[in-house]
Amino acid sequence: AFAEEFRNEPAVDFTRSEVREAFPAAIATARSRSGQIVPLFINGRDVATTDRLASRNPNRPSEILGQVCQAGSAEVEQAVAAAAAAFPAWRAAPAAERAGCLRRVAALVREQIYEQAALQVLEIGKQWDQAHADVAEAIDFLEYYAAEMCRLAVPCAVGVVPGEENRLYREGRGVAVVIAPWNFPLAIACGMVSAALVTGNTVLFKPSGLTGVIGRRLVELFTAAGIPDGVLNFVPGRGSEIGDLLVDHPAVALIAFTGSLEVGQRIVRRAAPLHPGQRQFKRVIAELGGKNAVIIDDDADLDEAVPQVLASAFGFQGQKCSACSRVIVLEAIHDRFVERLVETARTWRLGPAESPAHAMGAVADEAAQRKILEYLAVGREEGRLLYESPVPEGEGYWVPLAIFGGIRPEHRLAREEIFGPVLAVLRAADFDQALAWANAVPFALTGGLFSRSPEHIARAGREFRVGNLYLNRAITGAMVGRQPFGGAGLSGLGTKAGGPEYLAHFMDQRVVTENT
Ligand code: NAD
Ligand code: ALA
Repeated sequence: AFAEEFRNEPAVDFTRSEVREAFPAAIATARSRSGQIVPLFINGRDVATTDRLASRNPNRPSEILGQVCQAGSAEVEQAVAAAAAAFPAWRAAPAAERAGCLRRVAALVREQIYEQAALQVLEIGKQWDQAHADVAEAIDFLEYYAAEMCRLAVPCAVGVVPGEENRLYREGRGVAVVIAPWNFPLAIACGMVSAALVTGNTVLFKPSGLTGVIGRRLVELFTAAGIPDGVLNFVPGRGSEIGDLLVDHPAVALIAFTGSLEVGQRIVRRAAPLHPGQRQFKRVIAELGGKNAVIIDDDADLDEAVPQVLASAFGFQGQKCSACSRVIVLEAIHDRFVERLVETARTWRLGPAESPAHAMGAVADEAAQRKILEYLAVGREEGRLLYESPVPEGEGYWVPLAIFGGIRPEHRLAREEIFGPVLAVLRAADFDQALAWANAVPFALTGGLFSRSPEHIARAGREFRVGNLYLNRAITGAMVGRQPFGGAGLSGLGTKAGGPEYLAHFMDQRVVTENT
């Protein structure tokens, strides 16, 4: 019954002129408000600090979206104290009340969908459709988790035995720290924050340094929806400076993290020891990176495979954990596929995300640009450059869209997450080899197969071991409620955001047994 109640937010429809007109207007409005000082938010109050980080438009780095105040140890202490004090009442609030808060936020986001999307176009360089999808996904998380919590809040009877009643309750754990990445700056942050809140935890939310303005807007939406003081606190700060303080704090009960393997493993390690005064073990929810492969079978429909691989590899500059970074092509179809892939890639125009004419824009920041350019040099050594797009002149963190052939499974281009628009093409002798290569990396996030063979499709379903496998479609764009998202292996702890078991990770269970 529940699945019938939840409906995903509709995809953007650019055939409607009012939609096409809404974007430039919203971008202009967002731009007119840019450059402001963005304070922290602790215990229901704005807190300004003197340490500030400028948030820049990647397509035009001289444009500053906001000067985001950075938290230090004093602000972390204040925020933890506020969240700890607010916890008992928030945990005791009826689940329907907490769910109601999420639903009010969803309604507000829906009203501001273009404004929110425009901010992403400017602050992180998402194309219009990608930005709209991110905001729509945030709405989905809010609605889905609200409905899920109402289901989970009903105490369930377990082990029916005459003369005994057993009731299983779930409740929030305490102070939750939410640490978010920049690449889905509203959706992923909102998903983790709303899951932590609706389950009865109080939250310290740290956005990525690249998307502090969007992070602050999320908190403002919750405030507008009436969240009590201290329940949601906004503590932007450099990961290298306050990350350990947040993770180590003895009053923190739960850490929800989405980001790189490197930071994720540090968090898992640091969350383990007990610190003086600590009263519970910390639980870590961690969603990490990927090195995702698509297999092109020898009977694949190339009219489908070529555009879907390109969209998966280069949408939002390849800066998705779910992006395709390896395409493993069977020998018999390799040359035909590669020829068509490169020809179609040539039609992708690069330029600022503000214009819908540009399929790809600048990457997130200078560090990302440097890292990707280094991988282009590695690719030239390991394989053969099949295509490199021209890049725009002028400011912007530009890197080309690049496709390398002749890559082998042992190459760095086939093993390391680049997180940019670089696609490695591997030539496999047969389906067995393709499947073995697809599974050869320790990441296990997304994967895909284009095939007309029922046998191969069934076999991939059984043996292609990733958290989200897609057959004959793109491998990005998981929908809340339909494709619970998250990886296994080194891609994460398998908690599956947007799925029916996700909220359980944010709660403790208690069983009450009564002799009747
Ligand atoms: P990142 O790991 O660099 O940063 C993520 C967050 O961690 C940021 O808020 C950052 O400030 C913070 N941080 C940095 N150092 C920290 C420390 N020592 N302690 C605590 N927090 C610290 O990742 P990113 O560049 O923001 O995002 C890209 C990465 O995220 C990629 O690896 C991508 O695959 C992954 N990702 C995974 C998923 C998923 O669902 N599996 C989704 C999106 C992104
Ligand atoms: N959930 C995002 C996707 O599926 C990462 O592309």
